[in-house]
Amino acid sequence: MKRRPVLLATGNAGKVAELSALLDGCGVEVLGLAAFPETGAVEENGLTFEDNALVKARHAAVKTGLASLADDSGLMVDALDGAPGVHSARYADDLPPLPDESRDARNIRKLLRAVDAVPENRRDCRFVCCMAAVLPDGREMLIRGEWRGRLLSTPRGANGFGYDPVFFDPVLGKTAAELSREEKNAVSHRGKALRALLEHFENFLNKKIEPCERYPSP
Ligand code: IMP
Repeated sequence: MKRRPVLLATGNAGKVAELSALLDGCGVEVLGLAAFPETGAVEENGLTFEDNALVKARHAAVKTGLASLADDSGLMVDALDGAPGVHSARYADDLPPLPDESRDARNIRKLLRAVDAVPENRRDCRFVCCMAAVLPDGREMLIRGEWRGRLLSTPRGANGFGYDPVFFDPVLGKTAAELSREEKNAVSHRGKALRALLEHFENFLNKKIEPCERYPSP
């Protein structure tokens, strides 16, 4: 049987492969933006992860006429009123890099400086992953996955990426960078969002849900 094409609005082939594996058996073929170079990028200047995911998924759906998905993620620190938030990826782009310093390391350096005066027991934070699905008929679905933790003052662990070395999960007693990929997927914001997507996507495609659904519901 012919599978229905679904576009994941990303240029990241790893994300396309991950979603393909997850939706295996749902009768869909997951494609990335590499298959639609004429789609072009859209500016992500939303104030929330939901806004940014929606803007990308809507743009992809309008340009291609396909059911489209997009995600946006980042770290929110309570004591910083939710920063770096939607700016997580480019948080420290205003700082001159140290010699051989990666973008991730520079982001962590800026973040640790920003929370320097915040006591250890007030460093609650969370990773957030938002996924938006948009159909050409205008129906939309939003999914949000969260992972709560605490910021450490000193990076620990060598796995993962981004802010993983300073994100401490108090339940597991490890930073995200001390977890294997499987351990991280089991508890992470992204793992939760993808599992919720798997649960609801087929019904969404087959018109069994309302015009705009949110999981978990607000
Ligand atoms: P994007 O959603 O791919 O644009 O990612 C946004 C940014 O949030 C990344 O560049 C990281 O800095 C941060 N981020 C999102 N998820 C994670 C994670 O699982 N670990 C560490 N950093 C993350």
